[in-house]
Amino acid sequence: MLDSLELEEIRRVTSAAAESVIDLHGSLNKNEIDLAAITAMRKALIDMHVHGTVIIGEGQKDSAPMFMHGEKVGNLKGLEVDIAVDPIDGTTLVAKGKPGAVSVIAFSPKNTMFNPEDNFYMLKLVTGYEAADKISLARPLLENLHVIAEAKSKKLQELVVAILRRPRHEKLALELQALGIRVRFFDDGDVTAAIATCLPDSHVDAMIGIGGSPEAVISAAGIIALGGSIHCQIFSKRDIELFTIDPLQPLDRPILTKYDLIHSNNVLISITGVSENELVKGVEVHDGRMVSDTLIIGRLAKGPLLLHI
Ligand code: FBP
Repeated sequence: MLDSLELEEIRRVTSAAAESVIDLHGSLNKNEIDLAAITAMRKALIDMHVHGTVIIGEGQKDSAPMFMHGEKVGNLKGLEVDIAVDPIDGTTLVAKGKPGAVSVIAFSPKNTMFNPEDNFYMLKLVTGYEAADKISLARPLLENLHVIAEAKSKKLQELVVAILRRPRHEKLALELQALGIRVRFFDDGDVTAAIATCLPDSHVDAMIGIGGSPEAVISAAGIIALGGSIHCQIFSKRDIELFTIDPLQPLDRPILTKYDLIHSNNVLISITGVSENELVKGVEVHDGRMVSDTLIIGRLAKGPLLLHI
């Protein structure tokens, strides 16, 4: 069980990556940012008492530096685990000197993480625990939003839906706004948006849209830990068009749930702020020392975990 992992060791992995890019905010150099974060994360992982296999290394959608699928990490002496990493979710944000970026690593027991291979994108519908058992991408999105509103004792018009700002989501956003639903756009970083949706007392009721498949698996760790729900469908770059034609209508294709993405109830995820965001503060320098803010969320044998360190 993941209970034996040292939380301080986990925190150091994401905080090392977040701190490594402090001088690169606004540099416009995405590759340099990714490389710095990956190098720092790899180095910190060597000190971690774990035998990890990287299932999700992120980066496949472009030629950015990345962890390799199957790469072994940790001191290779401890517990055998699957690992999903995104040293920086929101590299573009850091490159442009914008808020919203995090460094993230997720753990689950060996052989429990889904490998999306070359499938870069997934349509994602995420909501918190209130309606977790009630949503389904097999039904029209609007029906799902009615279900979420009812589960949260809200009117449809009181719902807030987070949507990644991309041209492919313009029609979706306009159709939701026409119904009086409030849309909260974010520029990048759908791991943060998905997990923030599932936090107790979240001001966001759902996240909808097409984002990266690696990020869906990483998000699933937080969503499982918080009792929320994610439904996904794989999309190739070519068939994203299909979604934009009639975004509120369901598409007849396989649905992946949180347990398809991570086949376990035993999960841990560490999220350190790179720049200010909904979950954690960005790295700051106080008296010449870097100070980072990390949120560790988990579902362990001893119970749920939600810890700011
Ligand atoms: P970065 O490459 O800048 O880190 O972007 C991350 C991200 O915004 C993810 O959070 C999201 O899942 C994905 O990119 C969306 O992909 P695209 O930018 O191709 O729409």
